[in-house]
Amino acid sequence: MRIDLMAGATTASVARDLTPNPTILVFDSGLGGLTVLDQVRRARPDASYVYVADDAGFPYGRLSEATLVDRSLAVMERLVSLHRPDLIVIACNTASTIVLPALRQRFPMPIVGVVPPIKPASEATRSRMITLLATPGTVARAYTHDLIETYAGQCAVTLVGAPNLARFAESQLAGAPVDDATLSAEIAACFVTGDDGRRTDVVALACTHYPLLLGRFQALAPWPVTWIDPAPAIARRVTQLLGAADRSVPYAGTVLGTFTSGSGLTGALRASLDRHGIGSIAVEAMPLGLQ
Ligand code: DGL
Repeated sequence: MRIDLMAGATTASVARDLTPNPTILVFDSGLGGLTVLDQVRRARPDASYVYVADDAGFPYGRLSEATLVDRSLAVMERLVSLHRPDLIVIACNTASTIVLPALRQRFPMPIVGVVPPIKPASEATRSRMITLLATPGTVARAYTHDLIETYAGQCAVTLVGAPNLARFAESQLAGAPVDDATLSAEIAACFVTGDDGRRTDVVALACTHYPLLLGRFQALAPWPVTWIDPAPAIARRVTQLLGAADRSVPYAGTVLGTFTSGSGLTGALRASLDRHGIGSIAVEAMPLGLQ
């Protein structure tokens, strides 16, 4: 499907004519994309969803850029041909910051990416000291450095590439949270005090896994800061492209969870997935390296 915004027609009316009850595919390396899925489902409860966790490739933060591009293309190739979505959300900063051009070239439907929320962070800060908390892959990307130069030139930006946080978020979802001391150590570098006494006042969550730990971050932070989660902005972008839901139709779309390994699907994790609306689960086995 292709949406052309014609003069005089709103996005909503054009899109609703074209895509009643659309199918939206939400993709991440693992379960972080659930934080985006939750927001998009609120905006479009009528849509059907395919949530894709490339758990055979998790964590993406450790993959080289070339491997990540090949891997994402291979997984999407398989899942897009199976489900023929009307729109794709790449709910992963580590992937979006490198694979969006290749995906957009390959697939015709609209693709919404999640990229580090540097712009809202620079708008929210008063101390002009902000931190970007992300995977090691995302903090290394040229894309991330370009965003900082464009939107946060007037700020001191601390880049924290956390090696374990995505895994900690997944353990918590599976009912095995790490202890406070371990979590504190992982986020300690986010909090900086300058020579002039100014302190970090905004932390941008640039990995979709991290909002799963937000309550604990808030409790463990050495001082209060504003945490920026880009998921609500992603949901707004989806409704710009597909139109708002027709709330008069009593239709709740389904959510299918698809895993490329499924090896971590314990009873506790299935219960968590159920709380995020994932009622049925499928495994499309795609071992890393064999795509
Ligand atoms: N959820 C992913 C992101 O937004 C990354 C987690 C991983 O390292 O796989 O960056």
